[in-house]
Amino acid sequence: MKKDLKEKIHLFQSPGRVNLIGEHIDYSGGHVLPVAVDRSIFLSASIRNDRLLKFKSLNFNKEIVRSLDDITFRKEDDWANYPKGVVKLLQDSGHRLQGMDLLYEGNIPIGAGLSSSAAIELVTCYAFCSLCSINMKREDMALLCQKAENEFVGMRCGIMDQFIISLGQKGHALFLNCQNLNYELVPFKTDNVSIVVGNTNKKRNLVNSEYNKRRKDCEDGLEILRKYLDVGYLCDVTPLQFEEYRGKLPDIIRRRCEHAVYENERVKKSVSALKKNDIDAFGNLLMESHNSLRDLYEVSCPELDIMVEESLKVEGVFGSRLTGAGFGGCTLSLVRNDRAEYFIQQVSERYYKRTKIKPEFYVCSVEDGVKEII
Ligand code: GLA
Repeated sequence: MKKDLKEKIHLFQSPGRVNLIGEHIDYSGGHVLPVAVDRSIFLSASIRNDRLLKFKSLNFNKEIVRSLDDITFRKEDDWANYPKGVVKLLQDSGHRLQGMDLLYEGNIPIGAGLSSSAAIELVTCYAFCSLCSINMKREDMALLCQKAENEFVGMRCGIMDQFIISLGQKGHALFLNCQNLNYELVPFKTDNVSIVVGNTNKKRNLVNSEYNKRRKDCEDGLEILRKYLDVGYLCDVTPLQFEEYRGKLPDIIRRRCEHAVYENERVKKSVSALKKNDIDAFGNLLMESHNSLRDLYEVSCPELDIMVEESLKVEGVFGSRLTGAGFGGCTLSLVRNDRAEYFIQQVSERYYKRTKIKPEFYVCSVEDGVKEII
């Protein structure tokens, strides 16, 4: 690359995330255990001399041009609303931004539960901070991007995705307390086990509205339980307390709360299992998690259930479950390394036979969070 071009163009990379366990409890003050993986969004960014932002993506055709002085949510701007939300929040926090040419390209499957939206938010935030000399801690970048998604895009997501994409580290899962954002990096050893992500290729429907509904159910449940218990968050309720007061909750709300309380326990047990390298125990917890998401939280769908069912039939699988928000998208399976190829071939065939949809599989490595690469 020519020297002047090299000084002008900067390249950033943001990973996707796979949540190992702790699903749909980040917004209820629970614990989660995600990893950042080797599917990424790349952003090439260069500063302009005016106040325009040019958003382009090699994954979509349309170029979107907006002024820094006119950043509002527009339906027709589609994917660019995610980076625009970040720009808006950065400006609202008092940072002075410069116009920018922004070219994105990624291989995180879009809308498939691997957090392509948080990845595009974080890569944008990191690029603006780096090129406009804004000194921001990674924790604060995660919070700003979450706020952008909550307030600008209108998805009331928790903090998990933005946090792991910002603070993930190669070879480690991140055990995060979503109440106070304390975290511990837990080594994830891949000597014997592979993380295999299965994309059902079932596009997610209604994910935003159903997601927001689940949040509301949990808030309603917490309000009722608070009449009897001194708790700040739903995930402060212990299983023992829950069993004592479950009868006070209406049926649907009871099921949502039951998932949250026990899923939080499963995360803590998973961390102990991982530390002892007890992948069998970890695998069982993944299966319990899936059953709970399917039956109590009701965020699965036939395609996800079929893929999990077929995955569990293959020899060499420790556990399998849906990962991410659900309603379609991806499953995560832990598979013995020497069985990974066989697993993919078997599940592909059996899933296709039952659904007539061709799935995709990715054997994932555990990578770093967002960074500048050139
Ligand atoms: C989405 C949200 C996260 C989390 C998961 C479900 O990915 O962005 O905050 O709630 O769903 O665990």
